[in-house]
Amino acid sequence: MPPLLQYVLFFTVSTIAQETPSMTLNSKFRPTGSEVELAAGSAFTLRCYGNGSSAGWSTSAFLLRFQNTLGKKLEVSRSDPRHTGTYHCGDRSTWIHLYIKDSADPSSVFVVPKRIPTLEEGQDFLFECLVTDLSVSKLALRREAGGLPPGMTVTLDPQRGALIRNVSLAFAGTYVCSAQKDGKEFTSKPLLLLVVARLRRPPDISIGQVFFIRVVGESLEITCRTTNPNHSFNVTWTHTHLQGLNVTVRQQYKDNQLHKNITVTLPSVQMWHSGQFICIATNQAGIATATARLTVVDAPYLRVYRQPVQQANVSTVQMTKKLVVDASTNRTFSSGGANGSAVAEASVVEVWEGRDVILSFLTEAYPPLRHHQWDTPWLRNASHQESSFSQQDSTVDLVSIPTRTQHLLLQQC
Ligand SMILES: *[C@@H]1O[C@H](CO)[C@@H](O)[C@H](O)[C@H]1NC(C)=O
Ligand SMILES: *[C@@H]1O[C@H](CO)[C@@H](O)[C@H](O)[C@H]1NC(C)=O
Ligand SMILES: *[C@@H]1O[C@H](CO)[C@@H](O)[C@H](O)[C@H]1NC(C)=O
Ligand SMILES: *[C@@H]1O[C@H](CO)[C@@H](O)[C@H](O)[C@H]1NC(C)=O
Ligand SMILES: *[C@@H]1O[C@H](CO)[C@@H](O)[C@H](O)[C@H]1NC(C)=O
Ligand SMILES: *[C@@H]1O[C@H](CO)[C@@H](O)[C@H](O)[C@H]1NC(C)=O
Ligand SMILES: *[C@@H]1O[C@H](CO)[C@@H](O)[C@H](O)[C@H]1NC(C)=O
Ligand SMILES: *[C@@H]1O[C@H](CO)[C@@H](O)[C@H](O)[C@H]1NC(C)=O
Ligand SMILES: *[C@@H]1O[C@H](CO)[C@@H](O)[C@H](O)[C@H]1NC(C)=O
Ligand SMILES: *[C@@H]1O[C@H](CO)[C@@H](O)[C@H](O)[C@H]1NC(C)=O
Repeated sequence: MPPLLQYVLFFTVSTIAQETPSMTLNSKFRPTGSEVELAAGSAFTLRCYGNGSSAGWSTSAFLLRFQNTLGKKLEVSRSDPRHTGTYHCGDRSTWIHLYIKDSADPSSVFVVPKRIPTLEEGQDFLFECLVTDLSVSKLALRREAGGLPPGMTVTLDPQRGALIRNVSLAFAGTYVCSAQKDGKEFTSKPLLLLVVARLRRPPDISIGQVFFIRVVGESLEITCRTTNPNHSFNVTWTHTHLQGLNVTVRQQYKDNQLHKNITVTLPSVQMWHSGQFICIATNQAGIATATARLTVVDAPYLRVYRQPVQQANVSTVQMTKKLVVDASTNRTFSSGGANGSAVAEASVVEVWEGRDVILSFLTEAYPPLRHHQWDTPWLRNASHQESSFSQQDSTVDLVSIPTRTQHLLLQQC
């Protein structure tokens, strides 16, 4: 080479080196976006120069894609169809696409990945069937048995393959890429597409009981039951202010669902444990929560209130809920008439002779009532009795009886 030309060449190279990266394939400069077909078995060398080239080469070629340090000089001594791919230098704006064609092997017109992941409904999927031969035409994707499922939209690109948008469960099946050359069809190896349903909702969650009352020193155990289609979900218990709750998890796979029971345990509750326990279950679709409230009391209690009853045909003007008995900490007691242990004046009810009367009592008790009954000296059976339970372990009693004095007997666990 004459000295002047050498100088010009050096000058060109060093000028380019100041700017964006540039590249050579087998020592020949190539503009970015070039497509080059090489014969399988031949050697090739890619070099990358200039500012931003320090990251070196990276490629989509199956044989090299998982090597993360290809360097600025990439040498392949014996090329293979699986070296087909796009090679990027540095900041990715500089690239070249190589087709490595093996004329002796018609099955290598396409190269495909060894395996593909299971897809989730709604994803886009790039079926990387890469053409190794620049001269093929009529690139297509189809089911191995022929045709495309209804609703499938595919974008074909000889350098990237077939992009399937928004896969649905109905797309599951075996696919091939096809192309034509000299009037003959060539297909890729078939690939099995597996599609699983997308999670549409957070895990199912439930806690049987939402209000808990405990006396200081008693134990507490609350179980949160959750269900999810597979293992990818988390469940935790949190408390409004307690840290490091002691939880145990039991799980079981049943009916295509993973059942996970997470139990929070307090062996000896204290007043400051009062508050909300929140069970939180998360999966990809979202978060589900369930809340339990704990009230800690310093002693057992039993309170009876008389409630106003609209329909009662009572001459006495009815009042708001009135405490008639507070037997907290007392295990057994009785009250009624004019001389019970904790009788309020409101327990006297004046009624019309010969008419019915309805009395309603609300009891609040912890531990819960084990037994309760109405008792009168002259009548064992009230004509109608209903009990209903509401929050906080309280009981409402409705009794409809002919007019006489009442004697209420309550007993705690
Ligand atoms: C090279 O790139 C760096 C940042 O990547 C920039 O600061 C510098 O100016 C560039 N040099 C030239 C000569 O373009
Ligand atoms: C994806 O496909 C589903 C039907 O399988 C359709 O309901 C949904 O609207 C599609 N989403 C987009 C973004 O096209
Ligand atoms: C669980 O199922 C979802 C939805 O089908 C899926 O996205 C996720 O990858 C699955 N996780 C595991 C570990 O199988
Ligand atoms: C957690 O609870 C279990 C079961 O009640 C108990 O055996 C264990 O000692 C507790 N651990 C702590 C750190 O409190
Ligand atoms: C979770 O708790 C429920 C109700 O107590 C029980 O029926 C179920 O068997 C439990 N599941 C596991 C995995 O322990
Ligand atoms: C579950 O928790 C782990 C660790 O905190 C986290 O990496 C993972 O993404 C969580 N999974 C879900 C489905 O929230
Ligand atoms: C209440 O008593 C009055 C008179 O004694 C009677 O007229 C009325 O029908 C009674 N009401 C009910 C709801 O029983
Ligand atoms: C318990 O009952 C006794 C009488 O039987 C009474 O003297 C005492 O005050 C009661 N205690 C409470 C807290 O009600
Ligand atoms: C209630 O008073 C009656 C008499 O008025 C009396 O005979 C009875 O013993 C008293 N009962 C109680 C529990 O004090
Ligand atoms: C009480 O019950 C008995 C038997 O159940 C019945 O024969 C009697 O008539 C009832 N008394 C009243 C006042 O309802």
